[in-house]
Amino acid sequence: MKKNIKTEDTIKRWDNFAETYSKSHTEQGDVHKEIFLNPTLFSLMGTVKNKKILDAGCGEGYLSRLLAKSDANVTAVDYSPKMIEIARERTPNELSIHYIEGNCEDLHSLEDASFDLIVSNMVIHDLENYKKTFKEMFRLLVDGGTFVFSILHPCFVTPGSGWEKTENGEKLHWNVDNYFYEGAYEQKLGNTEKMVYFHRTLTTYINTLIQTGFTLECMVEPVPSKEMLEKYPSFEEDFRCADFMVFKLKK
Ligand SMILES: C[S@@+](CC[C@H](N)C(=O)[O-])C[C@H]1O[C@@H](n2cnc3c(N)ncnc32)[C@H](O)[C@@H]1O
Repeated sequence: MKKNIKTEDTIKRWDNFAETYSKSHTEQGDVHKEIFLNPTLFSLMGTVKNKKILDAGCGEGYLSRLLAKSDANVTAVDYSPKMIEIARERTPNELSIHYIEGNCEDLHSLEDASFDLIVSNMVIHDLENYKKTFKEMFRLLVDGGTFVFSILHPCFVTPGSGWEKTENGEKLHWNVDNYFYEGAYEQKLGNTEKMVYFHRTLTTYINTLIQTGFTLECMVEPVPSKEMLEKYPSFEEDFRCADFMVFKLKK
């Protein structure tokens, strides 16, 4: 495990990985987003029409585009210049999305109470200063505004977690290790790039959100729907262990 990884380094890694990452994304995102995250995020966000929405850590922008297609007024921010470039290229002229290059930990160019809803899909475990980020999200929301975010499940996806397999590759069970380690670790994303993740316990997440001032409305550990299992039968194994956790909070 590696602890001292600077933000400039993580931006560089996302920049280098942006093209490859984006290739795995269609207009529904990648397969995990299609199966697990999109249905959960959209059910938690509710009606988005005419809402001012911030997509915090937008990547190549598929979620911003889905929101804009549903008539939301979308601002999308990412600290990787390459991701923002790809997101702009992928956005047709008729969708007006305001893309900004910036760090979610400090979005001072955006005014207080600018958004009805903030969504952050698979980003919070990628950034170092989650406390500052939660404060920024709180500042940027109107009173009564909603913050929905998804992360890798902090109880199961930990530094060193993974399947225990037989010699033949049969999956026996999922191993969890280093749960109480908090900080940076490196893990391969896809087949090539080593990316940086930040692990925190579930207690740390929930207590920090409460200390920031948020009210927790609900949490979801998404599983595939019947329809998704018919389309992607191999995801049956996701009933053995949760990969993701999604939070809905209110200011
Ligand atoms: C796993 S990708 C998810 C992208 C997008 N939300 C999606 O669902 O496709 C994580 C993204 O967060 C961005 N990111 C990570 N830390 C960030 C930060 N502190 N501020 C802004 N963007 C950040 C990365 O550049 C990358 O594009």
